[in-house]
Amino acid sequence: MRLSIPPLPQSSTVNAAGRLEVAGCDVVELAREFGTPLFIYDEQQIRERCREYQSAFGRVPGTKIVYASKAFSCLALIQLLAEEEMSLDVASGGELFTALSAWFPPEEIFLHGNANTRDELHWAVRNEVGYVVLDSLAELEVLDRVAGEAGRRQPVLLRVTPGVEAHTHEFIQTGKQDSKFGFCLADGVALDGVSRALEAPNLKLEGLHCHIGSQILALEPYRKTIAIMADFMAACRDKLGFEAGSLDLGGGLGAAYLGAEQPPRVDELAETIVTATRSEMNRAGLAVPRLAVEPGRSIVANAGITAYEIQAIKTIPGVRTYAAVDGGMSDNLRPALYGAEYMAVIAGRPLEEPTASVTVAGKHCESGDILVKDARLPDPARGDILVTPATGAYGYSMASNYNGQPRPAVLFVKDGDARVVIIRETYEDLIRLHQRIE
Ligand code: LLP
Repeated sequence: MRLSIPPLPQSSTVNAAGRLEVAGCDVVELAREFGTPLFIYDEQQIRERCREYQSAFGRVPGTKIVYASKAFSCLALIQLLAEEEMSLDVASGGELFTALSAWFPPEEIFLHGNANTRDELHWAVRNEVGYVVLDSLAELEVLDRVAGEAGRRQPVLLRVTPGVEAHTHEFIQTGKQDSKFGFCLADGVALDGVSRALEAPNLKLEGLHCHIGSQILALEPYRKTIAIMADFMAACRDKLGFEAGSLDLGGGLGAAYLGAEQPPRVDELAETIVTATRSEMNRAGLAVPRLAVEPGRSIVANAGITAYEIQAIKTIPGVRTYAAVDGGMSDNLRPALYGAEYMAVIAGRPLEEPTASVTVAGKHCESGDILVKDARLPDPARGDILVTPATGAYGYSMASNYNGQPRPAVLFVKDGDARVVIIRETYEDLIRLHQRIE
């Protein structure tokens, strides 16, 4: 039976045993076989999201769909993305290393970052990454030198801070543009940056980049941003004779965590971006540039779940009931860091009527290590497998070893088969880099 809990992967069903299945795999059995906490990704859903982006933006030929690997990255995922002909955003030397180790085509890689070291830039240039997205004048200078030494003219985009900040439910335009990222529009720094990039002998400025936020649930901020970028592109043409051939609008499309949020669909996002780009470029008398978008969360968040085992139930009469699980802020930092909200499902009996309001607590030595506040659950007990849906983005990628907790295993599931794509860390891994004092 199809289980329609929106944050769960679309393939979620309830099997004959009454248990949660994802892509034909019984989640309780997966938890038994592979242990908990366990990240489980529906591989097909990730592929379908990539295809949805590609076909939605396909109307503008040459549009690049650049997956933001900070949301979740591992060799198998990068291989899958290469198969799906995606491009890749890496935000550090480490993410670049992961991508190159999976043989991802370097020409489809965009390197970002507001504090890239000389070594990171050198390595990116030597590996001939498609673009470096310039974040500051300092980086521009170092990259120009590094590229010169390597005998390469490095294609670059320049990251502009457009002064639009998108929040979950609303957006604002900030005159001040207080951000650690990018070249500010307001104070002329961006125009100066473009001019310097054009003069740099070893850089090839191909276009502009901006990113206005994450978990965006409205389309208006994108429209506003495109209007601002068109004005800036016109200023670059008028003052510097530079016509940007590419416009990268960053990522940000939101995901459904609780089911109540209604993020715009990918085709709605594409419609908004393509229509606004055409009309704003027309208004500014500019040719329509090649577009790029950099989705992370909206590709992987809802394809992933985390399975935990409940270890203890604690009821404080008249106050609340806690269900403590064998993971927590070390595998999902988002509730502690942002107050992010999740729901919870008992994998063994997802259809049973909830009887209790339960706070799902992690196992860490922090009172703030709460994964779900007031989850509605059917009388949870020790040994139950508890699932939090929509943990596919910024879960594993922000995981830590806090309290000596090994990072979980990660599975890809498809057509009833499960593949381990990241092995569970062991206690030995925790001390692998430690040196004894002789
Ligand atoms: N491009 C750039 C330049 C970015 O900085 C980001 C995210 C993305 C693309 C992808 O954004 P997405 O489509 O995933 O929203 N740790 C936070 C999210 C931080 C996002 C940082 N930048 C969280 O867990 O919500």
